[in-house]
Parts: sequence; structure tokens; C-alpha cells
Amino acid sequence: MTIQRICCMGAGYVGGPTMAVIADRCLDVQVTVVDLNEQRIAAWNDADLSRLPVYEPGLDAVVDRARGRNLHFSTDVDGAIADADMVFISVNTPTKARGLGAGQASDLRWVEACARQVAKSARGHTIVVEKSTLPVRTAEAIRTILEAAQAPLAEGEAPRTFAVLSNPEFLAEGTAIRDLETPDRVLIGGEDDSSIDALAGVYGQWVPGERILRTNLWSSELSKLTANAFLAQRISSINSVAALCENTGADVREVARAIGTDSRIGPKFLQSGPGFGGSCFQKDILNLVYLCRHFGLPEVADYWESVVHLNTWQQHRISRLVVQRLFGTVTGKRLAILGFAFKADTNDTREAPAIRIAHDLLEEGAQLAIHDPKVESAQISRDLRQDAEVPDAGTGMTAKTLSGQGAWWAAGSVEQAVAGADAVLILTEWTQYRTLDWKDLSARMRRPAWVFDARAVADPNQVRAAGLTLWRVGDGAQ
Ligand code: UDX
Ligand code: UDX
Repeated sequence: MTIQRICCMGAGYVGGPTMAVIADRCLDVQVTVVDLNEQRIAAWNDADLSRLPVYEPGLDAVVDRARGRNLHFSTDVDGAIADADMVFISVNTPTKARGLGAGQASDLRWVEACARQVAKSARGHTIVVEKSTLPVRTAEAIRTILEAAQAPLAEGEAPRTFAVLSNPEFLAEGTAIRDLETPDRVLIGGEDDSSIDALAGVYGQWVPGERILRTNLWSSELSKLTANAFLAQRISSINSVAALCENTGADVREVARAIGTDSRIGPKFLQSGPGFGGSCFQKDILNLVYLCRHFGLPEVADYWESVVHLNTWQQHRISRLVVQRLFGTVTGKRLAILGFAFKADTNDTREAPAIRIAHDLLEEGAQLAIHDPKVESAQISRDLRQDAEVPDAGTGMTAKTLSGQGAWWAAGSVEQAVAGADAVLILTEWTQYRTLDWKDLSARMRRPAWVFDARAVADPNQVRAAGLTLWRVGDGAQ
């Protein structure tokens, strides 16, 4: 079976870039990305490519080449499903907020809704591909829904048939296009060879055959959770060592280099920082924890849960030490937060460490000037659940300053953010923060002034030469 028409449900950080690359690489395949969110689809169709809803380096060029040719963005979900011989489900699966498994299990209501919509609108034979990260054995639920719907839609039509595949996405935000164009591997889990071959045929147009791994459905689903759990575990491991370094005079970067050169350990994902964020790591681990408990494996559940605990602790540890160094109080003090996205090169703030750290500092009554090159003020406001204040142009005070309540506002530049500040916190490793003119910034701050570099991107010598007191994550020499 050769795939000619693909429909992808969900035009988010995963669905959008993935489909754009498939369309770019497979000229014979018509790809339609659908979403319930009309605004989002309108943004994907915007003639101004700088306004795509997802910021990813290189994405605009790919969309520019393929859009209108064989890449389409639409809100006609039923129409796109009816036309497609393969439907990707790429909708969000957040952690459940309430009910059974609240705080750990994934909320599958949107995935189920997608399966029901496919059941309603598909024609002929349709291969349904799970792209969203899902708990193990979700494919079974999808298949049951689809199997209940095999009757023909109209009299005289052939019965409708379905196959289900798992094809987890391993792209990381910020490098999505590169990860999609040259993946380490593509994983396809399924039960029947012809469906697996059909999807392998799509990827095979640009991915070398030996990088396309085939497994059964359950292995594929579990591999995605496990891959993310292992990656997150490395970050919690190195962050735990960072705390020890700070107390013993060691430097976590030296330790990371020393252990990373052991080929069995490898150098990647050993960067200590303010803890991991992003839509996947915490959610997937909690999912794994829930599954382990469900299957009667409490020790295994506790083991993975500790990775998340350590991460939360690291974030609170940083906000606590900022308060401690600033003489035990930040009430009414101005702090510049540089970086709000969960990592560089994305406008995504889901689970960003900056949210928890900023929140802690607001609780303490701090006045935060937040700068991020890509995150919009409205997003920060939603994340902090607090509206921005307008600081007085002369005094830099907000209505809340005198009452001791925490306040924040978005700064248009780093210079604006640090003006009059007691401290600078670097929370995202944006390239522009690596080359800041610390002498100039220092002159704009109130003395004594601190730099808390949670990403270790600033040049320590320049910061100190500018008369600033520096704290760097994992640096025991300070
Ligand atoms: C999401 C999940 O977070 C991740 O676990 C999974 O692997 C892939 O899907 P992402 O693409 O980053 O990742 O999510 P998001 O940017 O929220 O996009 C999901 C899109 O689906 C949204 O645009 C939403 O409007 C859309 N959606 C959701 C539908 O079109 N229909 C629905 O029923 C639900
Ligand atoms: C991750 C996985 O890498 C990807 O395969 C999966 O499909 C989705 O989840 P993503 O969340 O986009 O991707 O970004 P990633 O680069 O993995 O970073 C996650 C978090 O870990 C970020 O907050 C990042 O700053 C942090 N991180 C990463 C570190 O703190 N140190 C490191 O060494 C690496």
C-alpha cells in the first residue's frame, strides 16, 4: 500500500513541524493538518511566516516550500479524515487534573475523541497512527473504538477497515527540523506488516532503512516513555551532583566532562541547570509512575518518581538561595529574569523552570522584570496566573511595591530588565545571554548586585570584573 493522503489531527508543536517535513520530503503525498482551534489554523496559513504559531529554527522555510503545494492547514476535520488513507493523532495528552489518576495519569479524552471522529468519518481502509505520547496499551482502546465502526457509511460501499500503529515522536523543541530531517531513529510499532511497510515507505523517502525500527505496539509505546524517563533521569542526576559540587568545591562542568568522556556514559544531557521543563518529561515520567503502581510495582514507581521530585527540589532550591543571598528578603526588590521559555530556541513555556522560580519569588514579594526573546507577555501572565503591572517610568515602582506584594512586567530588552535591579537571574540559555556586556549592565543596577546564572552561560570573569557577585549552578569555587 502506498500512502497518498495523510491527515494529521493536532497542529501543535509536534503535528505542525512533523507534517511540514513529511510534505517537504514526500512530494507525492498530500498532507492536511487539522485542528479544532481556528486561530491556530489561521496562524499556520498566515502569509507572514514570522507569525506561524510554533517557533522553530528552519520551520518557516520548510512551510514556505510545501504550503499550498502538498501541505495544507484546515479546520475541516471530517473532510480531511474522509480523504486520508493515513491519519496521525497528534493532539495533546496532558496530565489529568482531577479524577482517577489525577496528577499522574494522562488525560486521554482528546485522543479518544479523535478516534471516535476517525470512526465516524473515515472511508475505505485507514491506518491510524498514534503520534501523541500515550500510556502503554492505548492503541488497544483506539482499535476497539475503530473496530466498532467498521460498517459502511452508505449502502453499497465496501466495509471500512482500520489498522493502528504507534509512531512516537522523538523531536526536541528548538531542533525539531533537524531532528525530523536526520532522526537517530524512527520507531514504528504495529501488528501487521503491510501497515508498518506503508508508514516505513513514507519515512523511507528520506530516512535510511536501518534507522527505521519496527517493534510491536506495546514496545513502541513504552519506548517513548522510557526514552524520556532516561533523559530526564540524567538531568536530575547531574543536578543532584551540582548541589554537591556547590558544597564541596568541585565544579559540575568539570565532573560532567570527566564522566561524559567515558564512552559508556557519553557527553550529552549532562548540562546542569534549573531543572528540566517542557511538555513531555514530567508528564511522561508521571505516566510511567502511574502505570507501575497500576501493575503492582510500587518500588519501580518510587524510583522514577524521585526523578521528578529532585527536579522540583532543584527549582525551589534556586529560588530559596536567591532569597538567602539577598539578605533573606526580596520583598520590594527588583530582580531581572532573563529567559522564560523552558529552553532556548523555542517560545514554549510549558513546565518551564522559570514559572516555578518566578512564582516563588513573587510569593516573597519580589518585583520581577522578565525578558525573553520569544515568549509573549500574555503567555507569561497565563503561566504566573497574575497580570503584568506597569512600573512607574521614574521610580521603577509598581502599585504593588509598597504593599509588599509580588509584581512582574515584561521588559523589552535586557537593559530595561536590569535597570535598577538588585539581581539578574538567567533561567534560559538563549545565545544572546552568552555575550552580554556585563560592564554596561552592572552600571545600570543597584549595588550590591548579584548574578544568579542557573544555566552557566555568562562568562564568570566578565561578570566578576564588572563588580557583580556571581552564583553559578554547580560551581563550588564561589
Ligand atoms: C502534544 C502532546 O503534548 C505530546 O505528548 C504528544 O506527543 C503530541 O501532542 P504538542 O504538539 O506539543 O504535543 O501539543 P500542542 O501544541 O498542545 O498541540 C495539540 C493540538 O491539538 C492543539 O493545537 C489543539 O488545538 C489540537 N487539538 C486538541 C485538536 O485539534 N483536537 C482535539 O480534540 C484536541
Ligand atoms: C524532549 C525529548 O528530548 C524529545 O526526544 C521528546 O520527543 C520530547 O521531550 P524537549 O522537551 O523538546 O524534548 O527538549 P529537551 O532538549 O529534551 O530538553 C528538555 C529539558 O531538559 C529542557 O528544559 C532543557 O533545558 C533541559 N535540559 C536538557 C537540561 O537541563 N540539561 C541538559 O543537559 C539537557
